[in-house]
Amino acid sequence: MRTDTGHVFKLEDYRPSDYLILETSLVFRLSPEATRVTATLTIERRDGVVASAPLVLDGDGLTLIRVAIDGRELQPADFLATPDQLTISQAPAAPRFQLLIETEVAPAGNETLMGLYRSSSVYCTQCEAEGFRRITYFLDRPDILSVYTVRIEAKLDEAPLLLSNGNPAGSGDLADGWHYAVWHDPFPKPSYLFALVAGALGKVADSFVTLSGRTVELGIYVEPGKEWLAGYAMDALKRSMKWDEEAFGREYDLDVFNIVAVSDFNMGAMENKGLNIFNDKYVLADEETATDADFANIEAIIAHEYFHNWTGNRITCRDWFQLCLKEGLTVFRDHEFSADQRSRAVKRIAEVRTLRAHQFPEDQGPLAHPVRPRRYREINNFYTATVYEKGSEVVRMIRTILGAEAFRAGMDLYFERHDGEAATIEDFLKVFEDVSGRDLSQFALWYHQAGTPNLTVSSTHNPAAREFTLEIEQSVPPTPSESRKRLMHIPLAFGLVGADGRPVAYDGVEGATVEDGVIHIRKRRQVVRFSGVAERPAVSLNRGFSAPITLSVEQKADDQFFLAGHDSDSFSRWQAFNTLLTDALIAAFRQILGGKEPVYTARLSELAGKIAADEALEPAYRALALALPGEADIARDIGKGIDPDAILTAREALALAIAKANGQAFSSLYDRLADKGPFSPDAASAGRRALRNILLDYLALLPEGTELAARHFRSATNMTDRAAALTVLAHRHRGSPEAAKALADFEAKYGSDALVMDKWFQIQAGVPGPQTVETVRTLTKHAGFSMANPNRVRSLVGTFSSANQTGFHRPDGEGYRFFAETVLEVEKRNPQVAARLATALRSWRSLEPVRQAKAREALLTIAGAENLSADLRDIVERTLA
Ligand code: PHE
Ligand code: ZN
Repeated sequence: MRTDTGHVFKLEDYRPSDYLILETSLVFRLSPEATRVTATLTIERRDGVVASAPLVLDGDGLTLIRVAIDGRELQPADFLATPDQLTISQAPAAPRFQLLIETEVAPAGNETLMGLYRSSSVYCTQCEAEGFRRITYFLDRPDILSVYTVRIEAKLDEAPLLLSNGNPAGSGDLADGWHYAVWHDPFPKPSYLFALVAGALGKVADSFVTLSGRTVELGIYVEPGKEWLAGYAMDALKRSMKWDEEAFGREYDLDVFNIVAVSDFNMGAMENKGLNIFNDKYVLADEETATDADFANIEAIIAHEYFHNWTGNRITCRDWFQLCLKEGLTVFRDHEFSADQRSRAVKRIAEVRTLRAHQFPEDQGPLAHPVRPRRYREINNFYTATVYEKGSEVVRMIRTILGAEAFRAGMDLYFERHDGEAATIEDFLKVFEDVSGRDLSQFALWYHQAGTPNLTVSSTHNPAAREFTLEIEQSVPPTPSESRKRLMHIPLAFGLVGADGRPVAYDGVEGATVEDGVIHIRKRRQVVRFSGVAERPAVSLNRGFSAPITLSVEQKADDQFFLAGHDSDSFSRWQAFNTLLTDALIAAFRQILGGKEPVYTARLSELAGKIAADEALEPAYRALALALPGEADIARDIGKGIDPDAILTAREALALAIAKANGQAFSSLYDRLADKGPFSPDAASAGRRALRNILLDYLALLPEGTELAARHFRSATNMTDRAAALTVLAHRHRGSPEAAKALADFEAKYGSDALVMDKWFQIQAGVPGPQTVETVRTLTKHAGFSMANPNRVRSLVGTFSSANQTGFHRPDGEGYRFFAETVLEVEKRNPQVAARLATALRSWRSLEPVRQAKAREALLTIAGAENLSADLRDIVERTLA
């Protein structure tokens, strides 16, 4: 484990390395306790660097066996090797030489899941960001691009399958029951994209013919016996390959594309060149074991990793500060893919909900950082919602500003200009400036400045002058180490909506550039005047969520209700209703604490009924509209002095009111929506299930609701319905005999399927109320639970701490105490997972004072532990700062 050195890496310190590694040849002789790695590196001194300049290679916990240059064994005086560095103080004077390094590593004991490790006795690797240095000494930085040849040797019975990046280049038998395979990847790549897999795995094979007529062999490798669960992933892969050709003109470039599913993985998946490695949760699925959300995630992540082949691999990042160059862009691409495969409107709403749930709290708390950070202590902690999701929103804004055609031209230029390079955000922005002739320097602040901008908007209509005016003011709140903010360029899509729901015409605008329904905000205060406006319109703002901002709009409740029923932009229509619901919930929360704002319960219930019944709207859309804002969403909008118990009370009361007002209608719609015919994971079928399950959530609150949910559970023919019913029983009817029975039945049926049991852990960890911390503590002793497996830890402990407001934030601090203990226990094995878990307390300062004090104690407990990893120390110290 790497402990903290206190070193801060800074963007301004970037400097190209003195040496390049043109070719990398690796030989692995695999064994669980002592794998030998022989690396032969063709090293070239960069032009202009003095001859014999020191060569310093990165390592992490390595054991060196020997080192040689151009065939000559080095003597101890020639080099200095520590576990974390290999220094050759006087490199050869020749501009090019061969360096041979032999190291020994122990994959079996490697619980960090970085470098070479074993997952269910399969050898596998994870090198992003800095895991390659756990395998051999190297210039382990993304701007060192090298051509790799890899030879793997293993015992045939232990590892019949041997995979690495690129194309196969030979295989055969060796003495004593060993065998080998050679792989060659012709595309120069950074070390973080290196991968190796060896073991006994089942294979699903298919092929794809590219745009130019080349056949690519596709393989998905899974635990033997689970091949039949990989069909959906394979289908998603082929659709992704086709889509990238059509939408971006990008063709796949090797003869093979392989995906391996493993059960122990820190993240979702990894885009290693030609050999993606996946968390098996994002590969394996059928209707019996996976929910519709799982299917959608599999489709999106398969696409995401595949799309990295061009955005990340062919064009990679110069340094880790540029992480969003590959991640934000690739998320944007996978979002567009899913929007095309499914429903664009529904997809957009789901994206925005995710952004608000994960990125907004990050941006508004102590861990806020720019999309392109300028400093970090531990890069692993920057795989964040800001880099990924906000990074994607920034790319979306570029498209909004340029228009689809110029955006595509810019992407084409990016691929042409930077193929084979390690690029920067400046390079990326430049292509769009070059194709459009626009100046994006103010826009670039989206990459450089942290914090969620806010726009305050008010409007007036002057009927005599036929003038409609919008007064818009921008502000960017201060974030850690950036107290003064500069003004941003915000593309604000808008619509003026008339009484008939149709757009209101205007004949002129002044005060801002307005193009294609987008107001370009660039100043602190802008007064935008629309002339020739006869009737007073309702104003629909940030349509399609054109910018990742918060809005404070002075708008009459009547206008808001009107937009919720009539806005022609489906995102904004959803938003209008969601804002009404949020305002009502906040008002109800304040009433509990003695406030007097109106809640509009009856009007909201009526509108909920109308939306549910509106056959012109897709079922999936109706389901999203009917889902009340979550407790965390409400807390975020309240901002300060959070008491999660009062929020839960307010939310349950509104849900009950809506259920009571619509019981009959919801019930008959629920009956009509029952699945007929065979299961299909497609978006339309999933949408119907989503609507029916949200109706169940309401109906379960009415008399006989427990019975209804129990029946739904028993008669479910797929995991979506079964998990939905189990959630309703466990959460809405917590403690009931029906809930207990359903949980027991579920466990009896799926006890041996770890991925399904994750849902069982997750549902129980999410049960609202003070007793859940004890349940969760008990479940950590369950035979199916393991502190060493990231999926188990996230399902149980992650859900409890980041998705159970009332349970985690128990006023006596018991939730936090459990949390601190567990984070430290996970850290002993896996610092990365522990650090991510620890971010659950990032919003501790917005709690009411009693909880705030207890939360701080827990953070101090973690901070005070001995030998804290760099990962965890970085998170707790920033959280407490
Ligand atoms: N690069 C991976 C992705 O976004 C995520 C990842 C990061 C995986 C670090 C493992 C380690 O596709
Ligand atoms: Zn990615």
